[in-house]
Amino acid sequence: MARLFMALSLCVVMLSACGKKAEETHEAAKTEEAAKPAEAGITKEALAANYNLEKGKEVYEATCQMCHNTGISNAPVVGTKDAWTERTKQGMETMIKKSIEGYQGESGQMPAKGGNAELTDEQVGNAVAYMVEASI
Ligand code: HEC
Repeated sequence: MARLFMALSLCVVMLSACGKKAEETHEAAKTEEAAKPAEAGITKEALAANYNLEKGKEVYEATCQMCHNTGISNAPVVGTKDAWTERTKQGMETMIKKSIEGYQGESGQMPAKGGNAELTDEQVGNAVAYMVEASI
């Protein structure tokens, strides 16, 4: 009986050790994935291929530049690389989603669709791409 118990507890210890290892590997993979877009995924070429930067510029000039050209209410200034390095690590999808829905960040309040509810998700995506393209 005691031997069976020993064998069982040994199993449990081994299992939990294995479980932990798998978890750690998974965490490492996730971090790597999150850091990738800035290094490899987000390039000027990829942005030009996947978004309409011309249309993005129009949207930017009409709706976004009032904050993002000057940094009013602490908005990250377009064309300032340092202001965007950490942000681009999130990847385009996340940045676009946050711009569509709006969010309260550490530096300030980004209004949903820059405050223009008439913009489509696609228009906001193009504007984000235009802004990022000018800031990397
Ligand atoms: C009223 C001012 C204002 C306007 C207008 C505005 N923004 Fe912002 N935006 C902000 C602020 C402030 C932040 C920083 C929030 C933070 O991270 O603390 C921000 C952050 C962002 C970010 C970075 C998101 C991230 O995940 O780090 C993007 C992209 C963005 N805005 C896109 C846009 C687009 C596109 C428009 C126009 C459609 C727009 N903004 C209009 C104030 C504004």
